[in-house]
Amino acid sequence: MPSPRDASPRLQKALDETVETVEKTIKRLLPETNLAERHLFDAMRYGVLTGGKRLRPFMVVQAAALFNVDPSRARRTAAAVEFLHCYSLIHDDLPAMDDSDKRRGKATVHRKFDEATAILAGDTLLTLAFETLSDRDTHADPHVRIELVRKLAIASGGHGMVGGQMLDLIGEKEEFDLGTISRMQRMKTGHLFAFSCEAGAILGKADEPHKKALCNYAYDLGLAFQVTDDVLDVEADPRDTGKPANQDEKAGKSTFVSTMGKEQAKMRAEMLVHQAIRHLHIFGGRAEMLKELAMYVLQRRA
Ligand code: IPE
Ligand code: IPE
Ligand code: MG
Ligand code: MG
Ligand code: MG
Repeated sequence: MPSPRDASPRLQKALDETVETVEKTIKRLLPETNLAERHLFDAMRYGVLTGGKRLRPFMVVQAAALFNVDPSRARRTAAAVEFLHCYSLIHDDLPAMDDSDKRRGKATVHRKFDEATAILAGDTLLTLAFETLSDRDTHADPHVRIELVRKLAIASGGHGMVGGQMLDLIGEKEEFDLGTISRMQRMKTGHLFAFSCEAGAILGKADEPHKKALCNYAYDLGLAFQVTDDVLDVEADPRDTGKPANQDEKAGKSTFVSTMGKEQAKMRAEMLVHQAIRHLHIFGGRAEMLKELAMYVLQRRA
């Protein structure tokens, strides 16, 4: 299973803890079943519980800790974000999109099950994310719940992740300029990173400057993360990433690497990570794990 083995020991320990606790929550929210339609739930569990770095859940948990949020509420929100992320990966891998056979070191959901089941598993994970956020156990205050639901809907919809995925497909046919690629990557990845960080602040009823700082951090980091994903596509070992290499070039996608070359892309990622860290100054020394997470994005091989 790919893991962030390039993280510092302190970050690795904190990440391991998040993986363990959030996976318990995920298993509780997504139990095995003996119903006639259990195939659907088997596919969902396979798509969510087969590895993954869990970086978005980690952001939720770390941001929530800055505002002393009840950890069980943070874990439910983290699970919802991971459901949504895993849905996006299952659909991203489909033959009509990136046509990938491997994800997280294993067969992709449509290869392990079948295409129709993969589409339905993605659909159900998407709706489960919102069911989880809207549940009273996620927060007693309905204003908080509705803000979580609304912001995740915006982050993942047509002006967010799905819109970015549409641009990504258009970018296989058209050559994008740097501005369009940045906008696409911000939509594909930045918005869900921003939601993950902001969710912690929403749960803690934080003020606007603190919310804004976390969002700004996450947008820069999300962009850096997608730049490094594009770099890893051309230079990483598939045994580390758990997904096939050179997928972007094969599909003729417009990426940072295709536009500015690998070395320039790496420099861009470094600049973005340092910019991301600067947004955390408002927290004094209390956001150390988020700083370390940002540095890890530059070193990661998975
Ligand atoms: C992969 O995300 C999709 C991108 C946004 C580049 P991750 O690299 O976070 O995937 P997992 O969850 O660890 O498998
Ligand atoms: C996917 O980007 C981002 C999503 C919103 C799912 P990629 O297509 O580059 O992700 P990988 O490389 O397959 O993980
Ligand atoms: Mg894709
Ligand atoms: Mg892909
Ligand atoms: Mg990629």
